[in-house]
Amino acid sequence: MTRPAALLEELESLLGPANCPSDPEVIASYITDWTGRFEGEALAVARPADTAEVAAVIEVARSHGAVLIPQGGNTGLVGGSVPRKRRQEARPQLVLSLARLARIEEVDRLGLRLLAGAGTTLGAAQRAAAAAGLGLGIDLSARESATLGGMAATNAGGLTVFRHGSMRDRLGGIEAVLANGSVVSELSGLAKDSVGWSPAALFAGSEGTLAIFTKVMLKLVPLPRTRLVALLAYSSPRAAVEAAAAGRTGLPSLESMELTLRPGMELVTEQFDLARPVGLDEGAAAWLTLELAGEGDLLSELEHLLSAVPPLESAVATETAARSRLFSYRERHTEAVSRRGVPHKLDVAVPTRRVEELLASLSARFAREEGCELYLWGHLAESNVHVNLLGPAPEDESLDDAVVEIVTGLGGTISAEHGVGVAKARYLGSARPAANLALMAAVKAALDPGRLLNPGVLEPT
Ligand code: FAD
Ligand code: MLT
Ligand code: ZN
Repeated sequence: MTRPAALLEELESLLGPANCPSDPEVIASYITDWTGRFEGEALAVARPADTAEVAAVIEVARSHGAVLIPQGGNTGLVGGSVPRKRRQEARPQLVLSLARLARIEEVDRLGLRLLAGAGTTLGAAQRAAAAAGLGLGIDLSARESATLGGMAATNAGGLTVFRHGSMRDRLGGIEAVLANGSVVSELSGLAKDSVGWSPAALFAGSEGTLAIFTKVMLKLVPLPRTRLVALLAYSSPRAAVEAAAAGRTGLPSLESMELTLRPGMELVTEQFDLARPVGLDEGAAAWLTLELAGEGDLLSELEHLLSAVPPLESAVATETAARSRLFSYRERHTEAVSRRGVPHKLDVAVPTRRVEELLASLSARFAREEGCELYLWGHLAESNVHVNLLGPAPEDESLDDAVVEIVTGLGGTISAEHGVGVAKARYLGSARPAANLALMAAVKAALDPGRLLNPGVLEPT
């Protein structure tokens, strides 16, 4: 029997045939990423149901010299959730789907903690918390597919980082299986617990290269009683950036402050046949979408900002359906761009004082690039800009290089919230000091000496 056949046989007897498909048609959606830019080869998909089965799959893979590509909702945008091509990884690859570990185990109202399987979607966790009158303090538009394990693995950010932090800040603990099969856990739920360093903090952002999350504990926050969404249209990105500066310091209830620009607003309106948003017919070039959440008079808080930095036009919504309608112009950018083509996505952040320069430099640089469309949007509260390029072939990284050069010249980061994956591995070597890279390599070598977990991800090329 060949080694792959023996491996598959062992997986089948462990998980049952339905939970280790290898038919190319069945596994197609597991081996191609959300954007369609990254695709690899896998022998099969392993779909364990619990922590013990995850540990057993690791043992099967290890004993057959295979590698594991952990996967949650496969909404990651840096190619880290799908297998590598054969020329990049010669060993047999198995996608390790955590989607079946999707049980909400506990919502602790007193201790403000939610415990769930790592395959639980963000949306399911949000609904479980809301049923107890609480929130997670984290949100992103892929909420119905992205899983808590994937979000912890990428240190996901999203729409409410200014107020509540990124996934690393939201983690109250984890359970995870290491490459040697041992299970580490940090699930006391205690608000204060200072016995050594925290596995959750170490593994957040490790992109499936150090450990497989099997359970995730999140901190909960009270749900504010009132919410307001405002769509503010400005004549230029500069005016929007100025308003954002005023918003950061002058809006105590600020939860999200998102930037969109004219090309993206036109694309979203056209792709989804939406009503034209305020400012589009009045020549606006940039928009802020603000969400305020709190107990006080949110309208007068907003009016303060509007009189300090008046927009060209504005629309305000307080009812749930109207709020999500206004927010959808911002939220649907990712989908709109993907409908138009296979994008190169860079997710960058620069020091706040340089964000306007970033927007101007990128627009000037790509205006002269024939056949390339540039879409910029992002989480302006944190000076995090999503750079989307349509035009270059999936493997042509020359324009990605141009973006990275601009961003690093401004003192920024190559990844604000999406991670490094394989898409940015080529920039990792210069993105951190040598001593930091050596530390990362030493931790990887100690925990996963055989490079069993997600090889090629978070490794400088
Ligand atoms: P996957 O895509 O399956 O995996 C992502 C990475 O995590 C991979 O490296 C994978 O190996 C690893 N991984 C997955 N599960 C586990 C596990 N249990 N244990 C260990 N490693 C694991 N991201 C943001 O930060 N902010 C946003 O606002 C945002 N908006 C998005 C909007 C859309 C429409 C889309 C498609 C994506 C968006 N993303 C955003 C990116 C994506 O949703 C996040 O990166 C998310 O954290 C990925 O979760 P996932 O479950 O889909 O993980
Ligand atoms: C967003 O904020 O829209 C996401 O991070 C996804 C993207 O960059 O497309
Ligand atoms: Zn984002």
